[in-house]
Amino acid sequence: MKEIKVFAPATVANVVCGFDVLGFAVNEPGDEVTMRLVDEPGVRLLKITGDDARLPLDSAKNTVSASVLHYLNHLNRPDVGVEIELHKKMPIGSGLGSSSASTVAGLFAINQLMGNLLTAKELVPFAMRGEELACGYGHADNVAPALMGGFVLIRSYEPLDLIALPTPSNLFAAIVYPEVDVPTKDAREMIRAKVLLKDAVTQWGNVAGLVSGLFLNDIDLVGRSMKDVLIEPTRSILIPGFEALRVLAMDNGAVGFGISGSGPSVFALTKDEATARKITTAQQAHLTKLNINSKAYVSSVNAEGPRII
Ligand code: HSE
Repeated sequence: MKEIKVFAPATVANVVCGFDVLGFAVNEPGDEVTMRLVDEPGVRLLKITGDDARLPLDSAKNTVSASVLHYLNHLNRPDVGVEIELHKKMPIGSGLGSSSASTVAGLFAINQLMGNLLTAKELVPFAMRGEELACGYGHADNVAPALMGGFVLIRSYEPLDLIALPTPSNLFAAIVYPEVDVPTKDAREMIRAKVLLKDAVTQWGNVAGLVSGLFLNDIDLVGRSMKDVLIEPTRSILIPGFEALRVLAMDNGAVGFGISGSGPSVFALTKDEATARKITTAQQAHLTKLNINSKAYVSSVNAEGPRII
């Protein structure tokens, strides 16, 4: 195989209570990468579409080409020549793992072209380097679910210990992206570095509850564990109408609601698709009243991760 086109999914990081340690993949939106092997050695990013010229085309600075280069260096293959086209199909700075989707599509593509040498789990550290380039910190809660599909727990960063979690049947995500820009880097810098023990107790109870809910196929337990006393009180200030969006989600049948990743996207989990659509419709109508444009996505959980298209 000389050329490949890959789709990699958006992700909901944190899943409200699990800052930096929980995430899941969705079926839409996502990004696409076209990659071909060429004779001239080196990694070249030829073109980016759909980014309104916001992303660096410099191969050393772009997360896709930089992580592909890192992968080839690891394999000790400086002789390999690669040309890349990145097609952004999802909003940048949305809290839906935009940089992660691009990076993961690129890594999945090069790994396929090289003969599938590494597993999805083994690709995660390369993708984390891409996140470091994008926001200053190599968190894994977007890239791990984007690569592995489903829900993933990062039990530990050092050493990296990734656990694929089960996905309850009939679980839907209702995602709304209010079109205001919240760069992950800024949203990370505003968080308090120290937490109170009583808040930590609440938080780890909820993380354990959410993971138990996934294993028990108990969506209500998942929902009541979607509480964040550490990060949400600070970050929600950046999201227009956040409390109203929560009320609209819960009143329309969500099991839980919160910020997706570092925001500004918000998401709700529901037990069926119709409820998810009702929620996004109500939330978008509210944002329109606030004069804020928005995009909505309704998706089941993506179990497979990236795919060849
Ligand atoms: N865990 C990361 C954060 C996810 O909340 O900053 C960023 O998408």
